[in-house]
Order: sequence, then structure tokens, then C-alpha cells
Amino acid sequence: MRILSGIQPSGALHLGNYFGMMLPSIELQNQGDAFYFIANYHSMTSLFDAERRRQNTMDVALDFLACGLDPKKSVFFRQSDVPQVTELSWLLTTLTPMGLLERCHSYKDKIANGISPNHGLFAYPVLMAADILLYDSNIVPVGKDQKQHVEVTRDIAIKFNEAYGQTFVVPEPRIREDVALVTGTDGQKMSKSYNNTIEIFGEEKATRKKIMGMVMDSRTPAEPKPDAEKNSAIQLLKLVAPVEVSSDFENRLRAGGLGYGDLKKGLFEHYWNYFAAARTRRAELTQNLDHVNAVLKDGAQRALMVAQPVLERARKACGIT
Ligand code: ADP
Ligand code: TRP
Repeated sequence: MRILSGIQPSGALHLGNYFGMMLPSIELQNQGDAFYFIANYHSMTSLFDAERRRQNTMDVALDFLACGLDPKKSVFFRQSDVPQVTELSWLLTTLTPMGLLERCHSYKDKIANGISPNHGLFAYPVLMAADILLYDSNIVPVGKDQKQHVEVTRDIAIKFNEAYGQTFVVPEPRIREDVALVTGTDGQKMSKSYNNTIEIFGEEKATRKKIMGMVMDSRTPAEPKPDAEKNSAIQLLKLVAPVEVSSDFENRLRAGGLGYGDLKKGLFEHYWNYFAAARTRRAELTQNLDHVNAVLKDGAQRALMVAQPVLERARKACGIT
């Protein structure tokens, strides 16, 4: 079983990225043939600073390795180190109906948030389809917001297979329902574009400040809160604290008597402990960037071995070769 996922180097990674995509990916590396990559071509649709892209790419590599991606079990690489993906993207784009892309929520949301659309942003899901199909992927672990893109990939694969004969494996998204949507400090979906993130490896003082600044309602500490399970700090606590701790906080909030300040303090402490070991590993890796570069280089070579024959198969099927 081939498992594949990617993440854009578009800024510091946050708890939404971690619980939605990284942790499920890391867990799956024991269950199949896992391919994970840093989607630097995709980041070009919304980030226009070359040095930042280079820096972010290295940061994502450090984050992923520190959090437990094991390069002995998984193939870990930079998207652009296998540029064959851009050729496949062209083959696929000619079979992609405009309407399919026009319906993509992610595109519509980005425009609604003020990003000025370029052709790359519109065609983004086709490049993502190429990423997935180039490696004969069966399973794609992603957060809920990426589900539609995997469905677009399925549609494109089926269309190509119908037009040119059986060529591509039709993949399936894998979404963990318990962490499908991690909420941010303002109660909305946590996202780099909404300025509401809690970073995985944020600096201590700044992250404490962010957590203490989480938006709550104006009910007094004494008031019972029958909707305690909807509280965004409780929801995050469930991800980073043992279940008996988070249920205790939830019960105290529900009964009344627990102030939001104390709840947030508890959240910060558990968040900080949860990533303690990974933080140490990241600091060590930062001292050994040659090793990180070697991992990515080796990953690219292994990825290419799979990609090359699949691209050749697609070229033959459509009459290019
Ligand atoms: P962002 O919205 O911050 O730009 P990306 O779109 O780069 O995040 O997402 C990278 C990965 O992390 C995707 O698989 C996505 O589904 C997952 N992800 C991002 N935000 C969340 C969230 N709030 N909850 C769950 N998963 C998320
Ligand atoms: N679009 C994904 C995101 O923003 C990143 C991505 C690019 C991806 N190519 C992919 C994810 C292929 C899974 C499979 O998070």
C-alpha cells in the first residue's frame, strides 16, 4: 500500500498541521510504503519571497523529522527535486474540466481572504493530482480541508483512464475524524492565513501569550458552562493532554468555578510538555543541517525511481512517447 502526502513550506507549522496531517502521516509510516514531500512548487502560488521559501523548506524538513518522520521508513523529499511532476501536471490539465476547479472551496476561500488569484492558484489542484498520481498512491492522509482536492484527483485519474486506458491508481483520502478540524485562538479553523495559529515549535514566551490571549466569552468563572465541550481551549487540551486531565478540566468548566485564565494556563503547560522531546530533537537537527540535506537528497533519488516509470506509462498512454 502506497501512502503519500505533502505540506507547503508557506510558514511556521502549527497544531492544525500537526494533528491534521503530520501525526497521521507519521503513524501511517509503519503501515505501508510512505512518501512525504515538501510542496515547494505549490507554495509559489501564494509566497513570493525566494529566501523565505528556501528557509521555510528547511524549517518544514526540521519540523517533520523532529516530530518523528523516520527517513528509514519513509521516503522524504522536496517536490521540486522530482520535476517530472510538472510534466505530468500538464498531461492532466488537458483533461481537467474548468468547472471542477471553479468549484474548489480552497480556491474560493483564498480569493475571499484577499489573495489575488493567479493561474497557478487556480490550477493548484491539478499539480496536487500530479503529486498523488505520479507515485501510484493508494492513501492520502490530509486534514478535512484537503478532502475535496483528493476528490478532484480521483476525478482526473478516472477521466484519464477512460480517455487513454487504465493508467493511474485511483487514490483515497484518509481523514482522522477526531482531529479533522483543529480550532485556532479565535475559535475558527486554525490556519496560517487567519493569524490564529499556535505553532508547534513557537518561542515559549510568545506562545504563552498567544494561548493566554485566546478568545473566550464573557461569562464569569462561577457560572456553569453546559457547552464546555465546545470551548476551544478544551478542544486543544484534548489533543495535548492525557484524557483524564482534559476530562477533569472539562468537568470543572461545565460545573462552574474554573476561570478561563486557569484553563489557558493548563493548556499552555500541557502543550509545552507534549512537544518537549520533539523540541530537543529539533535543536539537535538544527546543528546538523548536512544530515537533513542528505535525507532529502536520498529521498529524491528514491522518489524518482517510482516516478519515472509512472510518467513513462502516462506518456505512452496518451501518445506523447
Ligand atoms: P494552512 O491552512 O495553515 O495554510 P495548509 O493548507 O498548509 O494549512 O495545510 C497543511 C496540512 O495541514 C493539510 O493536510 C491540512 O489539511 C492540514 N491542516 C491545516 N489546518 C488544519 C486544521 N486547522 N485542522 C486540521 N488539519 C489542518
Ligand atoms: N495542498 C496541500 C496543502 O495545502 C499540500 C499538498 C500538495 C498535498 N500536494 C499534495 C497534500 C499531495 C497531499 C497530497 O496542505
